[in-house]
Amino acid sequence: MAILVTGGAGYIGSHTCVELLNEGHEIIVVDNFSNSKLESLKRVSEITGKLFKIYNVDLLNQKGLEEVFSENKIEAVIHFAGLKAVGESVSIPLWYYHNNLTGTFILCELMKKYGVKNLVFSSSATVYGSTNQVPISEDAPIGAVNPYGRTKQMIEEILRDLYISDQTWSIALLRYFNPIGAHESGLIGEDPNGIPNNLMPYISQVAVGKLQSLNVFGSDYSTKDGTGVRDYIHVVDLAKGHLKALGKVQFSKGVDAYNLGTGKGYSVLEMVKAFEIASGKKVSYTITNRRPGDAAICFADASKAKIELGWVAAKGIHEMCEDTWRWQKNNPNGYEEEQDNLIEHNFPVLTSAADFLVSN
Ligand code: NAD
Ligand code: WQD
Repeated sequence: MAILVTGGAGYIGSHTCVELLNEGHEIIVVDNFSNSKLESLKRVSEITGKLFKIYNVDLLNQKGLEEVFSENKIEAVIHFAGLKAVGESVSIPLWYYHNNLTGTFILCELMKKYGVKNLVFSSSATVYGSTNQVPISEDAPIGAVNPYGRTKQMIEEILRDLYISDQTWSIALLRYFNPIGAHESGLIGEDPNGIPNNLMPYISQVAVGKLQSLNVFGSDYSTKDGTGVRDYIHVVDLAKGHLKALGKVQFSKGVDAYNLGTGKGYSVLEMVKAFEIASGKKVSYTITNRRPGDAAICFADASKAKIELGWVAAKGIHEMCEDTWRWQKNNPNGYEEEQDNLIEHNFPVLTSAADFLVSN
């Protein structure tokens, strides 16, 4: 029986595939490669020495996705696939709602049809909005403040309603805080398209010389040094949290939300300093105005995941910076794969002809 990993070629998905394979799971990856490269999965195979099926399928392609279910025995789904850029979601909200919600509807309908009722869903701390007390617990008020966050909030509600309609489902809603870092091999990591929106990839591109200088968005917050404080979590710790959640959904019914964070907050300037120490590189920066919508402080109360999943983030900020730097230094231009060589591969990439005809 296999674990279906949607969006498995992406940043968090590829790291989770490594941990799943290392733990002996059979996996099947479905990805439309709209924000990732096949190269990331080739490297997953290189790291683990394992082969696995990859379907170049858009979740919006119901026919193509059904082939994945009809051709394989699937026991659970980890659902990473989705668009995730807050700023972009404000400018193209309809596409975000369509891609993230319709894709999830199609996925869940097929899961129901094929009797697959175990689901781990990639949610986000962004569902909490920006007005909560810290540390934030799972029962804090929900109130996303942008279309991207609202897709996550709505999907959480939809999955709760799905469970109410059929209590044979078992669903874990994982609310990630700020994932950063990379696998220790330096072979896989975060590979943002264009200018990074997020802090850590921006810092690492300044350190490697791709970008000139970091803009620090505000230094007048009521925090230790005036800059924004966030809960940065190593992507490998996050990946391991998915394996714990998978274990839970395979053995108990219901819907539960879990914060996946470290429970510690670091400021922007603390991250800059930590990265300079880890990389030995100077990271120049300029203090600029606040970014609209940013909260001053956001970090998790992660005690529920510790108690119920037996999961605790283990890696500290310096390891997060060291692993980020190793990836960035070894891959200054990310995976650098030409999109059109998707069909050249040396391990099974199963596609349906119709799939290549799919246009978003
Ligand atoms: P990512 O963009 O690297 O990975 C997402 C993957 O999904 C990509 O490979 C993309 O090609 C694929 N995809 C998108 N739409 C698809 C579709 N319609 N059909 C098939 N594949 C599709 O993003 P990530 O950082 O790995 O995030 C994974 C998940 O975690 C996302 O749902 C994201 O919203 C969520 N999340 C991310 C963060 C973060 O800071 N990275 C924080 C909280 C939650
Ligand atoms: C972190 C801190 C910025 C960039 C976002 C999404 C959230 C989730 C995780 C998907 C803040 C500051 C940043 C820069 C800066 N993604 N910053 N200069 O905003 O906490 O969360 O990613 O679910 O939905 O909102 O992360 O990395 O953008 O910012 O000063 O160039 O770094 O102000 O304090 P954020 P971030």
